[in-house]
Amino acid sequence: MSVAPLRQAPSPMRVAVLVSGNGSNLQVLIDAMQSGALPIDIVGIISNREDAYAITRAQQADIPVAVLSHTASGKRMAIKTFERHASEQLQQWQPDLIVLAGFMRVVSAEFIDKRIAPMVNLHPALLPAYKGLDTHQRVIQAGDSHHGCSVHVVTAELDAGQVLTQGVLSVGAKDTAISLQARVQKIEHKLLPWTLLLLAKGVLTINERYSQDTESYLPTLPLKLLL
Ligand code: GAR
Repeated sequence: MSVAPLRQAPSPMRVAVLVSGNGSNLQVLIDAMQSGALPIDIVGIISNREDAYAITRAQQADIPVAVLSHTASGKRMAIKTFERHASEQLQQWQPDLIVLAGFMRVVSAEFIDKRIAPMVNLHPALLPAYKGLDTHQRVIQAGDSHHGCSVHVVTAELDAGQVLTQGVLSVGAKDTAISLQARVQKIEHKLLPWTLLLLAKGVLTINERYSQDTESYLPTLPLKLLL
């Protein structure tokens, strides 16, 4: 694997963001960048859906957008085709960090191995619990007392890379999957920019060799945001 280490200084850190939907987390990053609170330069957005509202958010902020959604015949773009176009686009933008913020397509191990910069994902659960989809519903069904979100390094194994940060909340007796989703998103809107700030400042470092199964590497204790 030949991924350049994350550049810690000088700022701003060049960030590419992959999205699929509303883009509320993207908006928080745009706002923090524009206000000067976060030393990042969002160099481009990739959306795998042409109807994603995140595209409008990017356009309003004059950020380049690549929509890699459908073939000319209207069929869903094959994942390999998406990955080839996405890799070419990322090569052009030369980000220091690739952020998956509500990106809902599973990418291949080859795409992850060939990434030109470290890649992190925002996941709506306290990893390693609840990898995959429907996390809020599964938390309710399990009767868990706590829930939250994680920012973790993307590896070939789904939602299994080094956890960098987590935001935690208590699950209330009246919570539903819908209320939990809204509450978790509120935390995400603080956690994601906070994590990028810690990465940009070099407080957090990405361990590309981290593995949950390798005892020779101490697990990184995630920094937790308690709200
Ligand atoms: C976020 O809640 C994020 O945790 C989730 O999608 C939402 C996107 O919201 N991501 C995943 O489920 C990834 N598996 P947004 O488009 O408003 O930022």
